[in-house]
Amino acid sequence: FKVPAPKNEPVLNYAPGSKERTLLQKALAEARAQTLDIPMYIGAEEVRTEKKKSLHPPHDRQHVLAYFHEGDKSHVEQAINAALGAKELWANLDWEYRASIFLKAAELLAGPYRYKINAATMLGQSKNAYQAEIDSACELIDFLRYNVHFMSEIYRDQPDSGPGIWNRMEYRPLEGFTFALTPFNFTAIAGNLPTSMAMMGNTVVWKPANTQIYAANVIMQVLKEAGLPDGVINLVYVSGPDAGEVIFNHKDFAGLHFTGSTGVFQNMWKTIGNNIHKYKSYPRIVGETGGKDFIMVHKSADAKQVATAIARGAFEYQGQKCSAASRVYVPSNLWDDVKKYLLEDLKSMKMGPTEDFGNFINAVIDEKAFTTITDYIEKARQNPLNEIIAGGQYDKSKGYFIEPTVIESKDPSSLTMCEEIFGPVLTVYVYHSENFEQTLELVDSTSPYALTGSIMAKDRYAIEMATRKLTHAAGNFYINDKPTGAVVGQQPFGGARGSGTNDKAGAKVNLMRWVSMRTIKETF
Ligand code: SER
Repeated sequence: FKVPAPKNEPVLNYAPGSKERTLLQKALAEARAQTLDIPMYIGAEEVRTEKKKSLHPPHDRQHVLAYFHEGDKSHVEQAINAALGAKELWANLDWEYRASIFLKAAELLAGPYRYKINAATMLGQSKNAYQAEIDSACELIDFLRYNVHFMSEIYRDQPDSGPGIWNRMEYRPLEGFTFALTPFNFTAIAGNLPTSMAMMGNTVVWKPANTQIYAANVIMQVLKEAGLPDGVINLVYVSGPDAGEVIFNHKDFAGLHFTGSTGVFQNMWKTIGNNIHKYKSYPRIVGETGGKDFIMVHKSADAKQVATAIARGAFEYQGQKCSAASRVYVPSNLWDDVKKYLLEDLKSMKMGPTEDFGNFINAVIDEKAFTTITDYIEKARQNPLNEIIAGGQYDKSKGYFIEPTVIESKDPSSLTMCEEIFGPVLTVYVYHSENFEQTLELVDSTSPYALTGSIMAKDRYAIEMATRKLTHAAGNFYINDKPTGAVVGQQPFGGARGSGTNDKAGAKVNLMRWVSMRTIKETF
């Protein structure tokens, strides 16, 4: 079995009058016209409970997209048992057999399911068509194809042997079951976290954020249609505490694959630590958590290019990317021009529901996010060292809409300059153009996170200095670009410090975390 050389799925642009736009509009209308009843998927069962909860488009709170069936601790136990029950068969299949299932899933997503999953992401998570396309179609397909490629490289990597000695390496799945916990903001991450573990022969309990269940349900359909055996990935909708209590107390817990908030990750790590004596092995813990991502501008940069990077980096998907730019350092010589172009860019970003393809800005995910983000805006407004130079208004009467907001702050350690907001709020600090080096130190020390960041400069010396001085300030560092939009196979993604374990999504190193190797030496 020769794994095809992976290629990035081409991004469709949904131009007016294009075939893809018509097909996506059809999928959106179909999704709108029905109210789905979404079960949990445990083993071979579709599990329904008495506790039905509704799902709504964040930009249209009155509309009911679906009902999902919420479970409790007993369902987590069932899911663990299903995962353990499916393990032996799955783990002992030839890896090529497992690979073919995930390659088929990628083909289904690239073909018949493309519009369905994009429509689900647009409606369930309020992404515009382009943001849905690069996420739930392209990035998810790329994760599957590239991970299969990395998987084939891992299994083929064998040690040297010698006369009378045959050495070999077994890449065993982890002993026990694994747990995937996925965030609302990327359908691709929802697909990647459980499948990357499953690819390597593990079986999985998967709990998505409630606000992602609508798209997670489509992923599950695709995996089933691709031939994933029952029990390999078990999808449950339970509260975090219920899931944590059962999973982290279980002797067969073997690994956690997480993307979400820093606080949740740290608490889980502590719980796992407290239970460490219960497990057979030290569990693998992989997490991608928060960010307070920066754009650092040098006086030699091009003002228009800087404004575009800021506008896109900060406000694509309403700033709800862990990679989103949220603090920007602009030299005084460029600020007037950058500000002018930035305000022009913002004027062209229309806000409204996702189904109108002209809207760039859509709603934030839910009431809780709306409250948190608007609280930050109000606190910033009260600080006399701040000026809100764009946006600042919000309205949740129909959906959770918040204008893209730019705060100019004279205090580089003001609240919105330091804390993760996870919304369309950007803070700019204007530094004296000659203080580049001191400002690099500020960039490095202002936040506990280190996920993404950019340097914008034409001066090669400035680029080199920033790259060196900011060595640990970002796991993904961009030169003359926005700090978002990592492409699988091109920019493996993840950060260290408070941003996670840096086990790069979309890279061989990540798949290596889901195997426990056995070295075998045979003499003859
Ligand atoms: N990989 C995404 C990006 O680079 C974030 O998860 O924007």
